[in-house]
Amino acid sequence: MRGSIPGDRKSRITRAILRWYRKNGRALPWRNKRDPYRVIVSEVMLQQTQVSRVNVKYPIFLRRFPTLKSLAHAKTSNVIRAWRGMGYNSRALRLQQLARAVLDQHGGRMPREIDRLRALPGVGPYTSHAVACFAFHEQVPVVDTNVFRVFSRLFPKLLEKASTPQERVKGAWEIGARMLPRGLAFEWNQALMDLGASICTAASPRCERCPVNRHCGSAFAVKRRARSKAKSEPARDGVPNRVYRGRVVEALRNLDANRSIPFPTLGRMLKPNFSRRDKAWLTKLLTDLERDGLIATRSSRTAIQISMPES
Ligand code: ADE
Repeated sequence: MRGSIPGDRKSRITRAILRWYRKNGRALPWRNKRDPYRVIVSEVMLQQTQVSRVNVKYPIFLRRFPTLKSLAHAKTSNVIRAWRGMGYNSRALRLQQLARAVLDQHGGRMPREIDRLRALPGVGPYTSHAVACFAFHEQVPVVDTNVFRVFSRLFPKLLEKASTPQERVKGAWEIGARMLPRGLAFEWNQALMDLGASICTAASPRCERCPVNRHCGSAFAVKRRARSKAKSEPARDGVPNRVYRGRVVEALRNLDANRSIPFPTLGRMLKPNFSRRDKAWLTKLLTDLERDGLIATRSSRTAIQISMPES
């Protein structure tokens, strides 16, 4: 990142955003919870699921697994069951692997140092900083896609020299570190996320209601973006494999413990027009799910049987 942020600009921006947040911040059930386990559960859920959905599922999941220990010791199939309705089921496994690693490597206490957090399975720059800040009140930046967007619009000049997306992300983290108001990292980071989610939105920012439009390098200039075309992803008959993966896990969730589904039955459950032509495709889908730990397969005399994973 090139250039600097003058001290008076910084303090005007931080004061205006914090004032806005105190009035308009969202009351979310994971806010102001210091328990690092609860923080990590919310952050993993929020990675790929909307706030409105997490709002509903988060308390239910925590009633089922109230402590890190209870999650670490649970049967994996029960964790997958409790993840129902959240999508991207691999996250349930990652969360349990993380809980098990914290139990094995740190005696069940989540570390507070960024480096140690980063060393845990499935924890990247965002999650490590979020836990350090939201659970331990470390004075560190937290840059997710919302915050990245806010910074790129507020400070376009600082990022214009970045020639790759990675450099832009690195620049945003540097801006995050420079903008931290002393001692207020927790509130500040939550405020930036809310600003990005409710005012500085991707497709149609509400600049007229933004508390820092006077200080913003892009105010009223962001063009409404046409929705970008959905990324192409592997699909079968127009339905993404991601959706079929979800359907397989959902079919198994609804099964009694220790029961399994024969391959052809599963095929017809996923795809009403399932035929011999789909066999190789479904085999590959199941191989991937088994590799990811989300299902178990077993060959019997008559057919391959698919079930929830053990342990
Ligand atoms: N998205 C990711 N983490 C969040 C948080 N703590 N609050 C609101 N939205 C979020």
